[in-house]
Amino acid sequence: MSLFSAEGLAYVYPGGVPALIDVDLTIEQGRRLAILGPNGAGKTTLLLHLNGTLRPSAGRLLLDGTPVGWDRAGLLAWRRRVGLVLQDADDQLFAPTVFEDVSFGPMNLGLPPAEVEARVNEALSALDIADLSARAPHMLSFGQKKRAAIAGAVAMRPEILLLDEPTAGLDTRSARRLLATLEALEAAGTTLVFTTHDVAMAHRFAHDALLFADGRIVARGPVGDVLTDAATMDRAGLDAVGA
Ligand SMILES: Nc1ncnc2c1ncn2[C@@H]1O[C@H](COP(=O)(O)OP(=O)(O)OP(=O)(O)O)[C@@H](O)[C@H]1O
Ligand SMILES: [Mg+2]
Repeated sequence: MSLFSAEGLAYVYPGGVPALIDVDLTIEQGRRLAILGPNGAGKTTLLLHLNGTLRPSAGRLLLDGTPVGWDRAGLLAWRRRVGLVLQDADDQLFAPTVFEDVSFGPMNLGLPPAEVEARVNEALSALDIADLSARAPHMLSFGQKKRAAIAGAVAMRPEILLLDEPTAGLDTRSARRLLATLEALEAAGTTLVFTTHDVAMAHRFAHDALLFADGRIVARGPVGDVLTDAATMDRAGLDAVGA
């Protein structure tokens, strides 16, 4: 059984932009899923549906085969299991210090202070930013902010971690280190789902790919099948790996 699935999702933004049209997908435990597609394809909109930030106008979302609940308790339980790192870290970080920011989620879970502190420290060292703990998030570099935002999600120890363009804007080595960190998280039991414009990285790092265009899924499957197929990739406005 898949860990998480969506059936027939549709979403129209206020103002009438149809951003998701009949989207079906499954997230399988331990299989890294890369979501690719051109700007405006609906990738971010999709991720916002997968942790309950946006509510679909049609369709269902199922965790372990059970429809998710939209009441307060349902959303809390859902977000405890499915974490989201936003495309723009400035939208995610808000506390006066990195430490407080990362501790916000675990504190809201009602964990004892010692457990919160242990989780925060673990997340900060996993993201290699323990030295930034007392800094103000808005005074960090782009890549440091990205790491702080990911640390906040990691401290929740989610079963599924959704990352919206995690390596965009990072230098090559930082991107590589981030992927190694994500790999370590996966080894600890977190299933990774991410969007990216980096087709080569998705090919190397992900197991499965989902191609998106104009709010619809145009292809899905193992990265070796999807990302190397020029005709399929072209339908999503993308260049195939090696092209
Ligand atoms: N808050 C909003 N209000 C109205 N329309 C929106 C809003 N956010 C996104 N859209 C529209 O929804 C569509 C999908 O946008 P989305 O941000 O999901 O694309 P994306 O695939 O993540 O693109 P990118 O690669 O640029 O991040 C676009 O047509 C966009 O203009
Ligand atoms: Mg986006």
